[in-house]
Amino acid sequence: MLITIDQVLAKTEVRAFRAELDAADWQDGAATAGTLAKAVKRNRQLADGSELAVRLGQQILRRLAALPLFISAALPRTIYPPKFNRYADGGTYGAHVDGALMFLPGSHQQMRSDLSATLFLAEPEEYDGGVLEVEGPFGVQQVKLAAGDMVLYPSSSLHRVTPVARGARVASFFWIESLVADEGERTLLFDLDQSVQRFTPLVAADDPRLVQLTGVYHNLLRRWSRP
Ligand code: NI
Repeated sequence: MLITIDQVLAKTEVRAFRAELDAADWQDGAATAGTLAKAVKRNRQLADGSELAVRLGQQILRRLAALPLFISAALPRTIYPPKFNRYADGGTYGAHVDGALMFLPGSHQQMRSDLSATLFLAEPEEYDGGVLEVEGPFGVQQVKLAAGDMVLYPSSSLHRVTPVARGARVASFFWIESLVADEGERTLLFDLDQSVQRFTPLVAADDPRLVQLTGVYHNLLRRWSRP
């Protein structure tokens, strides 16, 4: 399932990010791709561990920690430090599946990628192309969001970024290991939680129906989560 989260960053924050990113030193993205992905990846990235990438990445992580919709959708255990990429001059990333296991930068700790995230940092009008296309059970979904908005999609899905024919597509991207590895179970929990959230303001806090539904959510989470 694709989940979009609006306004992870406010427009003023996006502008501040862009002022620094537009002046940054971008490197060849293919250098960090796996063997298969290297052949289809044509973009630029900020160096991992650069002062700018770390600082902006931490700002994104702080914001995500305070977003109930993100927590509910991802049930995050580990989040890879956000990376930044820039597609221009025909830059593209052909169809690929993200690597399943990755080392956290500068550590021997491994994480599994369950969810992939793209946080758009350029407005759709700034560039032509640059559409994130994600293959799912019901066909290909196309994603091109407003600056500051973010999409979450299963890391297991085949996805690509279409060539950028005009302008530049700047984004942050990262991966999440979820407490609930199974995509189907995670989606059911998300749907149930969203339903409970919408039901909550309509009844008293001790309404037995609400108490029971909330109990079902937590007991499923207890059953399916692997902390
Ligand atoms: Ni990818």
